Amino acid sequence: MSAVPGVVTVEGVRHVSGSVHTPGDKSVSHRSLILGALAEGRSHIEGLSDGADVAHTLRALRSLGAAITVAEGGPVVIDGGRSLLRAGTSDLDCGNSGTSMRLLAGLVASIPGRHRLVGDDSLSVRPMDRIAGPLGAMGATLRGRGATLCPPLEIEGGALQGIEWTLPVASAQVKSAILLAGLGASGETVVHEPEPTRPHTEEMLAEAGAAIEVRPEGGGRVIRLRPGALRPVDRLVPGDPSQAAFWIVAAVLAEHGDVTVEDVYIGEQRTGYIGVLARMGADVALEAGSGGSGRLRARSSALHATIVEAREIPSLDEVPVLAVAAALAEGTTIFRDAGELRVKESDRMRATVELVEAFGGRAEELGDDLAVHGLGPRGHLHHAAFATAGDHRMAMAAAVAALVAGPGQSTIEGFSTVATSYPGFLADLARLTAHRPAPLAAERAVVAIDGPAGAGKSTVAGAVAERLGVERLDTGAMYRAVAATALSRGIDPADHDAVVAIAEGATIGVGPHVLVDGDDVTALLRTPDVGRAVSVVAANPDVRRHLVERQRRWVRERGGGVVEGRDIGTVVFPEARLKVYLTASPEERARRRDDESAAGVARRDHIDSTRAASPLVVAEDARQLDTTGRSVEDVVEEVLSWL
Ligand code: DC
Repeated sequence: MSAVPGVVTVEGVRHVSGSVHTPGDKSVSHRSLILGALAEGRSHIEGLSDGADVAHTLRALRSLGAAITVAEGGPVVIDGGRSLLRAGTSDLDCGNSGTSMRLLAGLVASIPGRHRLVGDDSLSVRPMDRIAGPLGAMGATLRGRGATLCPPLEIEGGALQGIEWTLPVASAQVKSAILLAGLGASGETVVHEPEPTRPHTEEMLAEAGAAIEVRPEGGGRVIRLRPGALRPVDRLVPGDPSQAAFWIVAAVLAEHGDVTVEDVYIGEQRTGYIGVLARMGADVALEAGSGGSGRLRARSSALHATIVEAREIPSLDEVPVLAVAAALAEGTTIFRDAGELRVKESDRMRATVELVEAFGGRAEELGDDLAVHGLGPRGHLHHAAFATAGDHRMAMAAAVAALVAGPGQSTIEGFSTVATSYPGFLADLARLTAHRPAPLAAERAVVAIDGPAGAGKSTVAGAVAERLGVERLDTGAMYRAVAATALSRGIDPADHDAVVAIAEGATIGVGPHVLVDGDDVTALLRTPDVGRAVSVVAANPDVRRHLVERQRRWVRERGGGVVEGRDIGTVVFPEARLKVYLTASPEERARRRDDESAAGVARRDHIDSTRAASPLVVAEDARQLDTTGRSVEDVVEEVLSWL
């Protein structure tokens, strides 16, 4: 698993676009492992979630006796069977994962012996009493800390009796714990759920051959299960729709948003948030594919407020990121009966209010309702410093708020928690925000001439420009002008901020004469002092940023031109019509630079090609031309022939 840094800065962007795959669905992943451990024979699981939560379930099942092999890039293979499972001597560590603890509790309740389930600090304050009731009624003994039975959870497993149980609060985890226990009990187990919750356990039990029946009942469902053995299943885990919600909301809120999430689970208990966003006016679409998965797409939209009922998003997992959307909607959005948020990985009710307010929105808790007072589509969030309190969904929701908060950057502390469910989150963020604007017509009319000192760039660029009847820009002169100005103002070339201030603020005119803030610095540009200072100045990434911006503006204003330098074809105009990389033998280059010693040229070459910011490299699609011993006319003809 890739390490996720603890503190990250997220920059505001205008574009969020592209296509992503989210990690394998967490709910399906946990259940695939558990059912695979119970099934008599060999199961294969492809696309398992790479998050730490699922890894905890996997390791716990191994210590219960299931043989699970994980091969890089291949399916996870499970050799399972009820007779293999027994109480181990070590704790079953569930890490940060409430799902692992509640589902494993249901499983081990029917495995004779004493089991101890532990978790991290956050999981250790989450109540487990809702599973203790039904599992106790079936014949298991559960002990935990305090009245709400917080972990560590001790379970005395053994012979169980089926029960009939009505869930007082809709919960897929509690339902699943009862069904997993019921599978190993004697007699039938019946669960009534007042509202439909995630149906993964029932669906997957049915696929594995369990005697299970699900019927609607009132507004909810009744599930009947008879004990029995499971058969192994080969499964491809679909992408996680709850993780997709972060990209969907980012696309909706971005100035230029257009994101597609491929191959996600699209069952209705998991994609209610898409309906909520559509009701708010978002341009979102859900396209069914094969085998219960499909594609989600979202584009920039202006939003208005709505009322969200808890049953629309049964797990409430998407509430934090929907609250970010609501913060930019017109009017007040109410998330009704969202009190369950208080017992998630953190008190997500309070954390969501804090998140919205930190980024400049307004939100409040109204009893069990969460109200977000939107700033309206023309309103703006601002950047913030936010701490996640170890909650992965708060971390990712904060990243979305930062992406759409305009220019600037936010700091998110405690970000590494995203590894519990989405270790590749930052990589996907980088991909979806790495916007390459469509090349302007002007950029396509650029001839880029790059190469080291003394390769003949200036002479060739000047002659090519003249033959084409266009202007020529010597970008080296711009770097030299900044260096010369620093020296003449008594500024140390290594003084980052002072040199950046020149690159950013001074007027720089580059032509036959080079003027900085109206002063003619042409005579200074080729002095040895400037020759030494310029490499330092050119290695400063912020100087480069400002000068590159000026170079692009120069081209836009003219609709094209011949531009020479070190990074023109690679960085400044990657879409240039023609890229030429000139070289010459070191001896010849030193000879041509009669204003600079051979050692000086060599030293500058070295610095230019080894610096971190835009080092001198040859663009992949550049034409290389060695000018050693060739006449200027000859070289110019060859360059023109390429056009
Ligand atoms: O081409 P020249 O020798 O005048 O360039 C002077 C310095 O400026 C050279 O050491 C590298 C730097 N430079 C650069 O980093 N990027 C450019 N596009 C042009 C020049």
